[in-house]
Amino acid sequence: MSRTFYITTPIYYVNDVPHIGHAYTTLAADVLARYRRLMGDKVFFLTGTDEHGQKVEKAANSAGETPLELADRVMKRFDSLWAKLGIEYSDFIRTTQERHKAGVSHIFSQLMNKGDIYLGEYEDWYCTPCETFWTETQLIDGKCPDCNRPVEKLKEESYFFRMSAYQEQLLAHIEANPDFIQPKSKRNEILAFVKEGLRDLSVSRTTFNWGIPVPGNDRHVIYVWFDALSNYITALGYPDQSGNFKDFWPVDVHLIGKDILRFHAVYWPTFLMAAGLPLPKKVFAHGWWTVEGQKMSKSLQNVVEPNMLIDKYGVDAVRYFLLREVPFGLDGDFSHAALVNRINSDLANDLGNLLNRTTAMINKYFAGVMPPCGELDDTDSAYRAKSVAMLEGVAGQMGELAFSKALQCIWEVISAGNKYIDETAPWTLAKDPGKRERLATVMYCLAESQRLVYSLLAPFMPATSAKGLDYLGVTSAPDQATLAWGGLAAGTNITKAEALFPRIEERSE
Ligand code: MSP
Repeated sequence: MSRTFYITTPIYYVNDVPHIGHAYTTLAADVLARYRRLMGDKVFFLTGTDEHGQKVEKAANSAGETPLELADRVMKRFDSLWAKLGIEYSDFIRTTQERHKAGVSHIFSQLMNKGDIYLGEYEDWYCTPCETFWTETQLIDGKCPDCNRPVEKLKEESYFFRMSAYQEQLLAHIEANPDFIQPKSKRNEILAFVKEGLRDLSVSRTTFNWGIPVPGNDRHVIYVWFDALSNYITALGYPDQSGNFKDFWPVDVHLIGKDILRFHAVYWPTFLMAAGLPLPKKVFAHGWWTVEGQKMSKSLQNVVEPNMLIDKYGVDAVRYFLLREVPFGLDGDFSHAALVNRINSDLANDLGNLLNRTTAMINKYFAGVMPPCGELDDTDSAYRAKSVAMLEGVAGQMGELAFSKALQCIWEVISAGNKYIDETAPWTLAKDPGKRERLATVMYCLAESQRLVYSLLAPFMPATSAKGLDYLGVTSAPDQATLAWGGLAAGTNITKAEALFPRIEERSE
């Protein structure tokens, strides 16, 4: 029986257009989803859009459209970017969909009925852009501690979620499950936050209308984070607990950026506890991208537009760069120079070159037909061992969501391949008819090692992987069974490869 694997991205606000920050979370989720599929899991990969709330209402007002018109328009921009980026999601949820609204109303009523949501009055400092209330002591220099913008004092009747009642249970859960919140530094931050004490949480608003009405009191709309977080189960059909919900909940990984960790590692688990549902297995917070050393912002006009990058450099180069350049979990800096450098050195020089050399030699020495492999000498065995170890190495790193290290494992074998050619000097062997079998063995090892390399590249660079495998005469998509040494059959036709990644000579502006 195959394992199931459920992975989610945050649902994106529709008051902003997609940039590389959004593309990054979704791309990482896609790579992990594809890797788990490659390993034989039944995968459910969820993404979507967060369409309610005051920010969306305001953005729609200033654009002269209804919130739903705005959501329809912006949602399409996200979806078309995902298509262009090669994202293969299983489902795209919009919080304005009936299935979602019905699910949220159900959870809210359920919590009201058991007394975990009650009506009270609220007075505190409110940050409109972050849609978050802060206490006096949480403010930094009188401003929002998250975005540093001014806050205003708001008093309103509000429904509250009895979050304080779940403090001990949450603390015990975090302590008993060291992998629940990752990376570790973030886990420590959350532990410290929970230990400070959890207050009851305001979960309704009366100051605007664009949201899901509180059941039985439509003067209130449900707080946007209560609404948004619930997407992870409403998309599985909740409150119906059969079907996808039964197969996929609890989620294996919620992938998010570090800015929204508290919502996922504190609020969401306590909502789930109150609803009597199992908690996520893992919440992983990745770092933030700056651009050429600066924070990305509309006012600085330095927002990196992924469509433009893909048009200029190709989708696989962008996918590779984003996951290779920065260890997942840390902050990183985007620059065109760094991207061009990765393309030229890792993709053109190392990866592409090795395939060109190999396929050219098999064509020159064996008329493009894979010869049978003879006995391996020490050099061949060492190269084979390295190639086989890569399978385990990548599995280990992917288990840790260490995408960059997984790619490093693959690149070690690519470098070993280029070195292996220099050591075995096939052009010398080719001059000696007595060394024909030896030459065949070297060609076999080179092609077979690269069959494994291109198979493992499938989650990261799907089109490149397919092209590479095609040159090596592999016609079916890689799977768990083909991820073993010796799969390439003698007699396979090997095509001389074109440059997969031509070098980029001009410096980018
Ligand atoms: N709607 C909420 C999430 C609700 S999930 C139940 C939201 N949306 S968002 O569109 O503002 O952000 C979505 C994701 O984009 C977050 O994970 C955030 O970390 C990520 N990024 C936004 N800017 C980013 C960078 N500059 N760098 C990396 N990721 C960033 O929050």
